[in-house]
Amino acid sequence: MTKMIRTLAVLAATVCLASSMSFAQSAGEAVYKSKCQMCHGPNGTPNPAMAKAMGIKPASDPDIKKLSADQVLDAVKNGKGKMKAVAGLSDAQMKDVVAYFRTLK
Ligand code: HEC
Repeated sequence: MTKMIRTLAVLAATVCLASSMSFAQSAGEAVYKSKCQMCHGPNGTPNPAMAKAMGIKPASDPDIKKLSADQVLDAVKNGKGKMKAVAGLSDAQMKDVVAYFRTLK
């Protein structure tokens, strides 16, 4: 019986840890999915028609990879070329989504 309780306690702790970790990871991801994905694609690679029509480079492109966090933030905040400034984001959400965008390859 004690062994079972211990097993349950370990299990519960593991679940808590895993869910709190995925929550921390997904703040930027959630913003990306609701605000960027429709143009930039689920993994940072826009679908070919969108890429061609609007001139969006994939996140794996060297030109995109070399952008600093500030430059990505600037694109989100003020827009860039054909991309309009992304509206409706708090400063924290912008920071999160910039960090997430920069993890995409
Ligand atoms: C309405 C479609 C659209 C949405 C939504 C959108 N983008 Fe873009 N994005 C574009 C287009 C188009 C470009 C290419 C701009 C150009 O060079 O003319 C671009 C370019 C960029 C660039 C490259 C900027 C540079 O300096 O070359 C970054 C970084 C970027 N987007 C990040 C984001 C992030 C992060 C989000 C969400 C918060 C987002 N975009 C939402 C259309 C979009």
